[in-house]
Amino acid sequence: MQTPIAAPAATPFAVPASRWDAATAAKLSPAELLLYRSNLLGSDLTVTNFGGGNTSAKLAEVDPLTGDPAEVLWVKGSGGDIGSMKLDGFATLYQDKLLGLEKHYGGPNEDDKMVGYLPHCTFNLNSRAASIDTPLHSLLPFVHIDHVHPDAIIALAASSGGEAATAEIWGGRIGWLPWKRPGYTLGVQLRDYVAANPGIEGVMLAGHGIICWADTAEACHEHTVGLIADAANYLNGKLAGKPAFGGQVVAPNPDRAAMAANLMPRLRGLMTGSRRKLGHWSDHAEALEFTGSAEFERLAALGTSCPDHFLRTKIAPLTLDPARLRDDAYLAERIVAYRDLYAAYYARCKQPNSPAMRDANPVVVLVPGVGCFTFSTDMTTARLAGEFYGNAINVMRGAEAIGDYIALDEQEAFGIEYWLLEEAKLQRMPAPKPMVGRIALVTGGAGGIGAATAARLMREGACVMLADRDAAAAEEVRAGFARQFGKDVVSAIACDVTDEAQVQAAFDACAREFGGLDILVANAGIASSAAIEDTTLELWNRNYDVLAQGYFLTSRAAWPLLKRMKDQGGSSVVFIGSKNAVAAAAGASAYASAKAAANHLARCLALEGAPEGIRVNVVNPDAVIKGSKIWDGDWRKERAGTHGIDPGKELEEHYRNRSMLKRDVLPEDIAEAAYWLASEQSAKSTGNMINVDAGNAQAFVR
Ligand SMILES: NC(=O)c1ccc[n+]([C@@H]2O[C@H](COP(=O)([O-])OP(=O)(O)OC[C@H]3O[C@@H](n4cnc5c(N)ncnc54)[C@H](O)[C@@H]3O)[C@@H](O)[C@H]2O)c1
Ligand SMILES: [Zn+2]
Repeated sequence: MQTPIAAPAATPFAVPASRWDAATAAKLSPAELLLYRSNLLGSDLTVTNFGGGNTSAKLAEVDPLTGDPAEVLWVKGSGGDIGSMKLDGFATLYQDKLLGLEKHYGGPNEDDKMVGYLPHCTFNLNSRAASIDTPLHSLLPFVHIDHVHPDAIIALAASSGGEAATAEIWGGRIGWLPWKRPGYTLGVQLRDYVAANPGIEGVMLAGHGIICWADTAEACHEHTVGLIADAANYLNGKLAGKPAFGGQVVAPNPDRAAMAANLMPRLRGLMTGSRRKLGHWSDHAEALEFTGSAEFERLAALGTSCPDHFLRTKIAPLTLDPARLRDDAYLAERIVAYRDLYAAYYARCKQPNSPAMRDANPVVVLVPGVGCFTFSTDMTTARLAGEFYGNAINVMRGAEAIGDYIALDEQEAFGIEYWLLEEAKLQRMPAPKPMVGRIALVTGGAGGIGAATAARLMREGACVMLADRDAAAAEEVRAGFARQFGKDVVSAIACDVTDEAQVQAAFDACAREFGGLDILVANAGIASSAAIEDTTLELWNRNYDVLAQGYFLTSRAAWPLLKRMKDQGGSSVVFIGSKNAVAAAAGASAYASAKAAANHLARCLALEGAPEGIRVNVVNPDAVIKGSKIWDGDWRKERAGTHGIDPGKELEEHYRNRSMLKRDVLPEDIAEAAYWLASEQSAKSTGNMINVDAGNAQAFVR
């Protein structure tokens, strides 16, 4: 263990406070009160982690068939999140039928079998599946029950000093049950324990969380929040005045953002498997405190404790030496070593009926001074894994303050990860969309064709970085896409493609936010129209700066990221060219010749990119008037002037009639071709041009 260089005070636990509002609660029905309590608890991340925990109430209902009164257990359904759930997120089950299930229970090996009986207890044809925690709620004789996994509670539950601390804090009001994986058996053990300890107000579940109860929804809420606050205050007392994890041996690196941008695409490139990974980086205070601490390597190797944490973060994180991050051979060796470690864990723990081994790449990668990197095939899962590892760090900090941190037993962890019922759920999931796991950067992403292309890629599951000179427009487009596709999959950055530093910064941001790059759509563009004698040097240069040099700068900055994907099927560059790159245009020589330069650049890059698995192709649009901002400006008037027509409706008609197919060309038409060239469907095409112009004989490519 290294000698600490600094001893900053440990990050304290957040202490929750009740947010119960009596006036709001007064208007609610019993079921709505359960929902209100659940949402209050679940939306406070000091109370429970995302998706963790469940709440219940045993309510009086009327049987829809017989009209008789029935006691019905309302309990959070499988897979929901108590913070954001609605009433339809609860499973509803006949309480007497649930109690009657015990006659089918033959002992601890029958937990899986018991899950199969739950649907038979459904009340009122409710299709919401009951979770495996349902027996915990049904077998306890209390009306209102909360079960949550807050960091401060798990810290007690996962420490060698946890049982003693529980007795010290609550003086016997709260009981303690040793670790048992969730299921019917835990429900029976809990019921028997409570029966044997009359008057207790809750039970700590070792390695897991807490379950507690009360007679009313409000009292139950206050009780849960109060117990968490007790635990947090107790731990804060123990942590006060001392550094966490033995003190700091590696200080937060001031260059960590740049280091993250450099590291993520390289790790991602090495994480070969059936699907591409997306990465999330966080340098929140806990990550820097933990990774830079004296106890870091010892604790990281132990893995996480609570099943929620474990399922999200895998058996253990991968740790990297910050001094060797630029060494590709070192990174490759570490990833391979991790996969070997995971395969060995699988081999040690597997049972005859275990599902086949899943992806062996690490989910969590920790670098002292730099932070926590998390990888998954979808962005939300990657981000949540980072949040869960932050929870796990809090747990370790608290657990070590009162004893030794105890991680989940390996065989138990395996049992949860490879649980047969979970495997069945995975098998039923629909195949992912074709672009899931892919990252695209679209220049001019705030414009007509750029935004349409970004939307097309996102519709198939891609993550997109919108890079545009117009920051306000890019932000507006981003916000719209965030509503449509989710906030995790889209980002925007102000970037003028004529500025070398801004271009580099955009690709760095893309690497840092999503983990790398698979697709570049070089699209940012302008249009200008002037007779040769009226073409100023300034106008000439402006066209070449954006359309020729801009395509060059973006391709050059994309290259090192795109190359990293060679072993995973390669990557794709799509240039949005122009009909005028192929067909000569009178009165637009600066624009048309700059577009021709870009199109030839694409062919040169196709040649150079092939050995690296990078394909480069071009879409040539023509007369995309609707939705294009180019056609809002002077270009419209100038082109109308050139053709001697009115710049209003007549212009669209003019272009439609000029086309061979007599059809309008829309941004979505260009997007479709760009999408195809970006996708695996065109895996055998490079150095090509596709004209999307409703037919123009002058632009036929030969
Ligand atoms: N619309 C057409 O008829 C047509 C025809 C042929 C080719 N194209 C090409 O399609 C591409 C997209 O055009 P559009 O019709 O969507 O136009 P648009 O004006 O709607 O979009 C272009 C986007 O690029 C951005 N941009 C301009 N200069 C930039 C710079 N230096 N750095 C970063 N961003 C910059 C703009 O802010 C805008 O958001 C352009 O390359 C254009 O030349 C369009
Ligand atoms: Zn739980």
